Amino acid sequence: MSCLRKRGSCHYGLIIFISLFMPGNVFASSVVPDNFKVIAHYAPGYSDWKPWEATITQDGKVSQTTYIFGDNENTEIIKTFSLSEHALTNLIDAIKEPDFFSIKERFSYPVTHNETLFLSVTMGQASHEVSVYAPSHLKKRTDVKRFLAVWDEVLKKVPSPNNTDDVNRRHRAQVVVSTEDTPEDMLMKLGCGACHKVPTTTSKFGTIGPVLIAKTNAAERIASRDYRAQLKAGKAHATTAKEYVIESIVDPGAFIVPNFRLKHSPEGSTVMPQDYGSKFTYDALNKLADFLLSLDEAAAIRDGMLHEK
Ligand code: HEC
Repeated sequence: MSCLRKRGSCHYGLIIFISLFMPGNVFASSVVPDNFKVIAHYAPGYSDWKPWEATITQDGKVSQTTYIFGDNENTEIIKTFSLSEHALTNLIDAIKEPDFFSIKERFSYPVTHNETLFLSVTMGQASHEVSVYAPSHLKKRTDVKRFLAVWDEVLKKVPSPNNTDDVNRRHRAQVVVSTEDTPEDMLMKLGCGACHKVPTTTSKFGTIGPVLIAKTNAAERIASRDYRAQLKAGKAHATTAKEYVIESIVDPGAFIVPNFRLKHSPEGSTVMPQDYGSKFTYDALNKLADFLLSLDEAAAIRDGMLHEK
């Protein structure tokens, strides 16, 4: 998200302001601490979701900017509205309750293509920032749970623009599949069957890539010496079968399946398209990965895609 950091170098062709409800006289509350300010920042990973940043100030005003990067032009959607005093005190309680100020500042996880959640809270003289990379992998940790409790409360007050139509309508163009598609639809729409055979589906003819039987081989792949070498070199990042499948789809060059190395080509090259990461919604990719993880060698043999050894 270099654009977010170096805003000056980015060209925003279009800036859209949406002002929802802005009462003229905002309350001055004694329960709201001095200098109260919350900044929430969402940086998406491999999904098509849009980065956004919201600032909530002491007077309950909210300003949320969504950044949309187009091929030729970038757009900023700026939405402003006000929280009721009740909503604001509610949020403050949610911050105090898990003692946000004592949560560690950074959490990260080694797999790429994940989202980062960032929260900065100021109350009186105190200010604290926490960022969590790959929350879905870390949500069982108690301190991440405390962070997520605050994050969820912020989302209740300032809904993610990724769930709203005005952002989605404009920007689904690039995304090809969503959870409305069955795994079989996804394979069809994305042309996986041109190269792969996939047991139990109509993708029966591809011969360029391996038969997709992740239940049998994903765990084996990551345990292999070749994979561990890629891991060590920082090129591959999966530590579970599911991460391997997702990585194979969104970053196919991270590890090349043995016997499918291209001769006379630079190491790490593959014929598999490199841009699938932008074709899925986050949930759709999860759904397809789960499906591929349900397919094993026996299913491939039944469908005549592999022969019994
Ligand atoms: C143009 C051909 C091509 C297309 C299209 C293609 N792949 Fe691949 N895929 C390959 C090749 C070749 C490999 C093996 C080399 C490598 O690892 O990149 C591979 C590897 C994989 C692997 C790792 C398999 C294993 O045994 O470890 C998965 C999973 C995978 N592809 C899924 C998909 C999915 C899902 C799609 C569609 C969204 C797709 N591929 C589209 C050619 C393709």
